Amino acid sequence: MERINVELGERSYPIYIMTDFSGLGSAFSKAGLRGKVMVVTDSNVSNLYLKACMEEITSTGVQTCSHVIEAGEKSKNLDTVKDIYRQLTDQRFDRNSAIVALGGGVTGDIAGFAAATYMRGIHYVQIPTSLLAQADSSIGGKTGVDFEGFKNMVGAFYQPRFVYININTLRTLPLRELRSGLAEVIKHGLIKDAGFYDFVRLKMQKIFEFDESTLQYITRTNCSIKKSIVEQDEKESGLRAILNLGHTIGHAVESVSGFELLHGECVAIGIAGAFRLARRMGMISKAVEEETESTLRDAGLPVKAANMEPQQIYAEMLHDKKAKEGKLSFILPKRIGEVINHTIDDRRLLMEVLEELVG
Ligand SMILES: NC(=O)c1ccc[n+]([C@@H]2O[C@H](COP(=O)([O-])OP(=O)(O)OC[C@H]3O[C@@H](n4cnc5c(N)ncnc54)[C@H](O)[C@@H]3O)[C@@H](O)[C@H]2O)c1
Ligand SMILES: [Zn+2]
Repeated sequence: MERINVELGERSYPIYIMTDFSGLGSAFSKAGLRGKVMVVTDSNVSNLYLKACMEEITSTGVQTCSHVIEAGEKSKNLDTVKDIYRQLTDQRFDRNSAIVALGGGVTGDIAGFAAATYMRGIHYVQIPTSLLAQADSSIGGKTGVDFEGFKNMVGAFYQPRFVYININTLRTLPLRELRSGLAEVIKHGLIKDAGFYDFVRLKMQKIFEFDESTLQYITRTNCSIKKSIVEQDEKESGLRAILNLGHTIGHAVESVSGFELLHGECVAIGIAGAFRLARRMGMISKAVEEETESTLRDAGLPVKAANMEPQQIYAEMLHDKKAKEGKLSFILPKRIGEVINHTIDDRRLLMEVLEELVG
């Protein structure tokens, strides 16, 4: 068992990195959670891990129930949140109650938003089961849903009471989802830790074999990178923006694909785009650009937005909530392991890179 603390004053919380669910009951007791508990999960994860988690939580003597949402990004909307509110009120959940998010980033973002807003906030616990959620979305307190085609348009910063990661849940994750999660893992190396990036690059095969010590090291390092950034800038007023490497183009590609492409796949395309931009701006060499693309490809990720219209991707980027007065913010590499925030309003440069990305 490993424990990493996210230090955020009175909102501090532990992340447990485990190989099964046997420590979940004691994590609950340690957090002092004694009210009613609703486990929110999705239609895939419920068949795999709901029973084991419910048993562990119930063993602490609390009253539990579950709420199953349909798996997939299309559920990430206010209607799903309303269904959760309805069950919470029907079952008389109060301020001492807790919502547990058991699943990937979609479940975590929806359940976290419900927890943040029901009665102005009830306790919330994350049990991430996808690589993307274990590496990224379960830590840092960003919650929310999509609105009318716009990603994460409605949301709140709301920290969980603890995060419980069972790395062996990755064994049942579909390969495409595992690859999608690797995009955020690679991103963490690229923004902050060249040594970690090299480790992931060189140990890629061990990840696909679910080698326990490799997964434990990766999870520990991922969590440490993410937590150190969140600790310095909880609400993204500055530094935290570096986590958005690949996301300016990535979110736009995700919208244009009608959410057919997975989040991590779009982030990979976005990272490839950011490196292409940086190379054109003279910040990195062609060799660095090509090596990064080849790492993403080795992870089985796309680096091109095939069959998309560059103009449409550009229009989506301008629509993004982070675009300010027609100016777009990009996180760009200075070298592997270091990035900077750049505002670009050179439409021609952007269109050239988008043309390359769809080509
Ligand atoms: N809050 C944040 O900081 C943050 C950060 C990054 C991404 N996100 C969000 O996360 C979402 C993507 O997360 P995701 O990739 O985990 O998607 P997801 O939650 O849809 O999970 C991916 C798929 O894998 C299935 N699944 C999950 N765990 C499984 C397991 N152990 N075994 C078998 N199947 C399993 C799910 O049912 C789903 O079909 C996006 O909505 C993105 O915006 C949020
Ligand atoms: Zn992301």
